[in-house]
Amino acid sequence: MKAIILSGGKGTRLRPLTYTGAKQLVPVANKPILWYGIESIVAAGITEIGIIISPETGGEVKAKTGDGSQFGANITYILQDEPLGLAHAVKVAQPFLGDSPFVMYLGDNLVESQLDLFIDKFESKHLDALTLLCEVENPTAFGVAKVDAQGKVLQLIEKPKNPPSNLALVGVYLFSPEIHHAIANIKPSARGELEITDAIQYLIDIQKNVDSFQLKGWWLDTGKKDDLLAANQIILDSCLDLTIEGEIDAPSKISGRVHIGSGTKIINSIIRGPVTIGNNCHIENCFIGPYSSIANEATLIDADIEHSVILQGAKVVNIHQRIVDSLIGERAQLKPAPQRPKALRFMIGDDSQIELA
Ligand code: DAU
Repeated sequence: MKAIILSGGKGTRLRPLTYTGAKQLVPVANKPILWYGIESIVAAGITEIGIIISPETGGEVKAKTGDGSQFGANITYILQDEPLGLAHAVKVAQPFLGDSPFVMYLGDNLVESQLDLFIDKFESKHLDALTLLCEVENPTAFGVAKVDAQGKVLQLIEKPKNPPSNLALVGVYLFSPEIHHAIANIKPSARGELEITDAIQYLIDIQKNVDSFQLKGWWLDTGKKDDLLAANQIILDSCLDLTIEGEIDAPSKISGRVHIGSGTKIINSIIRGPVTIGNNCHIENCFIGPYSSIANEATLIDADIEHSVILQGAKVVNIHQRIVDSLIGERAQLKPAPQRPKALRFMIGDDSQIELA
């Protein structure tokens, strides 16, 4: 079995945060979202992985992720010239996939469950497509499935105005090579994309074996700020080991599960985990509260933050009000306010400069 991860597209929904970068590289607990997908695929024993990239952000994805050796995988990059849909991405990947069955993983999705369970069902039932479904409150934002009592998929609709159920399609799919035949027989949708939902619907219509698996664990489509903060919280809760590589001075107090990267200096600060701090950061006179992730080379001086994600090279200096539920982009700078407002809540994109007046 092979795998493809879709890491192309435009990423417009996280703008301005991903205006300059790939949304699949935005870090959750200081690790790009994309890498969780790679790790989960490798954990299921699949090492031949194709990553779909776009001309705009492909270079960055490639430079960061490499040839796969750091994951124990062999990664092939596949250029999709334009984001013409999920099924179009499969079409572009066909030479890589050959006649192998495969996992298709959307690079901006985070799924808790192990893939083995789905692969077992797919193989033992000789399926042509297995979709993962999850109950959601806002089905209109997703592909939605109508299933019978046994979980057999009857109908799939992409972002329906009147959803037939609250079962959303999760961004992980398993396919037999039959999917290529289906894709060759569908037309672009009203929004001009070759939809994978239409290709699966084609398989259903010609009586191929299509089944579903209902997810019980958590699943996050990390396209938006609050989803990203939620993903950050869940990952910090479940996967963070206590490791201290940087320097902590005597007055500082560290409690709970905290990771501090190499070259990072913690001076006269309180850090209450779960918290992850990257390499070469400068943290001085700060309170860093639970569920915060601070990327490499960030500077925080006289600051108080909690439940927030600070990206690489950002600077927060002399902000005495607590910063909560915030996402601060790469190299963004936050400077002091002369008077104290009561609360602050931010979504700040890369290269922004905020001066509170
Ligand atoms: O997250 C689950 C949802 O993902 C499903 O419920 C929907 O059925 C499915 O269509 C998809 O919807 P999104 O609107 O979230 O798709 P998005 O455009 O964000 O693309 C998903 C990933 O695939 C993202 O990492 C970008 C990449 N992509 C997207 C397109 C359209 C490509 O690599 N090439 C493309 O042409």
